[in-house]
Amino acid sequence: MMDRGHHPIEPWQLRETELDLDKLAQSESLFALSNGHIGLRGNLDEGEPFAIPGTYLNSFYERRPLPYAEAGYGYPESGQTLVDVTNGKLIRLMIDDSPFDVRYGHLHSHERSLDFRTGILQRDAEWTSPGGKRIKVRSRRIVSLTQRAVAAIEYVVEPVDQSARLVLQSELVANETQPKLSADPRVAAVLEQPLEPVSHHHGRDDVVLIHRTRSSEQLMAAGMTHVVEQPGRGDVRVEARQDWARTTVICDLKPGESLRVVKYLAYGWSSLRSENAIGDQVAAALAGAQFCGWDGLLEEQRIFLDDFWDAADVEILGHPELQQAVRFALFHVLQAGARAERRAIPSKGLTGAGYDGHTFWDTEGFVLPVLTYTMPDAAADALRWRHSILGLAKERAAVLGFKGAAFPWRTIRGQECSGYWPAGTAAVHINADIAAAVVRYHAATGDDRFIDEVGLELLVETARLWMSVGHHDRHGRWHLPGVTGPDEYSAVADDNVFTNLMAARNLRAAAEFAARWPVKARALEVNAEEEASWRDAATAVHIPYDEELKVHPQSEGFTGYAEWDFEGSRGKYPLMLHSPYFDLYRKQVVKQADLMLATYWCGNAFTAEEKARNFDYYERLTVRDSSLSACVQAVMAAEVGHLDLAYDYAYEAALIDLRNLHDNTGDGLHMASLGGAWIALVAGFGGLRDGEGGLSFDPALPDGLTDLAFSIRWRGVRLRVEINQQEVTYTVHDGSDASITLRHAGEDITVTADASVTRLIEKRTPLLPRPTQPPGREPMSALGNSRLV
Ligand code: BGC
Repeated sequence: MMDRGHHPIEPWQLRETELDLDKLAQSESLFALSNGHIGLRGNLDEGEPFAIPGTYLNSFYERRPLPYAEAGYGYPESGQTLVDVTNGKLIRLMIDDSPFDVRYGHLHSHERSLDFRTGILQRDAEWTSPGGKRIKVRSRRIVSLTQRAVAAIEYVVEPVDQSARLVLQSELVANETQPKLSADPRVAAVLEQPLEPVSHHHGRDDVVLIHRTRSSEQLMAAGMTHVVEQPGRGDVRVEARQDWARTTVICDLKPGESLRVVKYLAYGWSSLRSENAIGDQVAAALAGAQFCGWDGLLEEQRIFLDDFWDAADVEILGHPELQQAVRFALFHVLQAGARAERRAIPSKGLTGAGYDGHTFWDTEGFVLPVLTYTMPDAAADALRWRHSILGLAKERAAVLGFKGAAFPWRTIRGQECSGYWPAGTAAVHINADIAAAVVRYHAATGDDRFIDEVGLELLVETARLWMSVGHHDRHGRWHLPGVTGPDEYSAVADDNVFTNLMAARNLRAAAEFAARWPVKARALEVNAEEEASWRDAATAVHIPYDEELKVHPQSEGFTGYAEWDFEGSRGKYPLMLHSPYFDLYRKQVVKQADLMLATYWCGNAFTAEEKARNFDYYERLTVRDSSLSACVQAVMAAEVGHLDLAYDYAYEAALIDLRNLHDNTGDGLHMASLGGAWIALVAGFGGLRDGEGGLSFDPALPDGLTDLAFSIRWRGVRLRVEINQQEVTYTVHDGSDASITLRHAGEDITVTADASVTRLIEKRTPLLPRPTQPPGREPMSALGNSRLV
């Protein structure tokens, strides 16, 4: 078990009580601040030591060649990599003649904390320089959720027992030195010197540096300005060169006196706007931030977060660590999506450049369900981003010889960037995942304008893709051959059950919404014949079934493959780093929930008995080499009655980064699993389902989890669900005439503002005993860790 000793378990913050230089990469990700627009890794103020320096701007990327040993038609020719842009976090400090560097002198104490309610990352250090001067340093950092181009740092330093001369250098640095590239293919391609200087300007207090990426030709500006408070005589200088700018503050302090500097930072970037426009934008953002002031920024942040938590908090009694973890998870999901505003939400948010900063189906599948029910506008914006790249997706479909739109498996700007087509382009289910997110968003909000503006077109163009990827056989059955489902240890398979069911749903939704929005449908050239063809294919979809084993093969023939040698694979996970895909593809071994995801998202296509059998079968084969798996397994374990196992998976999904369970948190947080923590609790123990357009719950808690309470937004009304071991209570907030009709365990109920509804929870008995997992891949015990404080 990983040590959480330096991270006390507290409900509303993540605190690190000691600095562990061997875990810097992980802490930089955990303490990353972002608003979805800009992202700052939790690097130390003085810049060194660091594991991975990181300052990211949403969708600011550089193009790079994608070389192939053997290229083929339609292979993407260039990739996109998130750029580590001009670092504005840097504040270096010299005490007499020693630089403040925790690796030298003596570090008496070092504590950092990330407060989920204020959004502040605070650092307190007490240090004696090699020259014997003891100082206290406190820094507080925020990335504003209300002024999306702005971040700010308050830095306070105080000598403890002797006078000292302090020289503080607050900097902007472009083209920082990058760490060495790891051999893991999931790690970002590191770009050397990605930024070309364009111009630099400085006034008396403020500086702006403007750069351009060499190949993608995006322009960016970074600016800073300061407010300095010091007792007595001091000196402030501002200098700027092509790749750096520096504000130097010099003063002499006596013990008890302090120097306080507030640094305001702003970023602007564009592929369209001019150098002047971007420079002005940054100057304006700085002026706005300064006008608001440090206290004003904190106040705005607090109000924004109060509002978020009011509607999104998940409360847990009985497991303090899970409580902390789910709030940590929600905080980071909020940070990833809050102000992304029609740009992508990458799989790592803006916490690291793992996976090159790309966006995958993780967004629609695992992040948007959370945002849809907690911050619906952010979910709509993410889908509007998809719509903004629809043109590129149509071009891609045409290159592949298909109709409609083929959305990229991984991308920053919209072009397909996956150079490995069997687990990239062939994973065409991403199109149905996007369509499902559109339908979910509409069901939860009733936002008809969204459908008219972007939703219907997304449904129609994805439906058109399915019609050209699939075909009817001579018996009339509709098939999707040669596709890759969620499980990336099976590729280019025929009739993947998940993909087939999701495609059918996509087709049905397109037909249904086209009928409801006839004017828009006509504008998209949908006619009755096309609509009928969608319905026909959806009805005729082929779902393979193994009559002998009485389970669904994940795709045609899967249950006939040889079983993987799990015993021989002990200690060799993730398998993709130890075994060739050629072998993985031909055996029964599952990287991540696939058929199980089908039983969750398309639950009505399976009987309760089929779900139980399928769960039992696939549990034994699923190795969870992807962080997208545990939360789905939690939901299905809960549904089939293995509540204790569901508890373990919920715990794993929530703790993925806090415990660095995949050993790569340093490259950025796993946004899908963090969203998955909410999914595991709300859909797992709350039993939330939304597939049929309505809202339904079927709650049940595992032993040891005393209470679970959460809120969701449904058509503008907040519904609170409070569950304990015996009963569940549904309460409606917002306005005296608010009401929600929902389904509880198969019964329709209406909850109004003056009448909450309570129902007893029936005990769930599993049909089959608790299944086993591949040896060595059992989840950690949630119950066993529930007493940690
Ligand atoms: C998973 C994919 C996921 C990607 C990014 C892969 O390991 O198999 O499903 O989209 O990671 O998180």
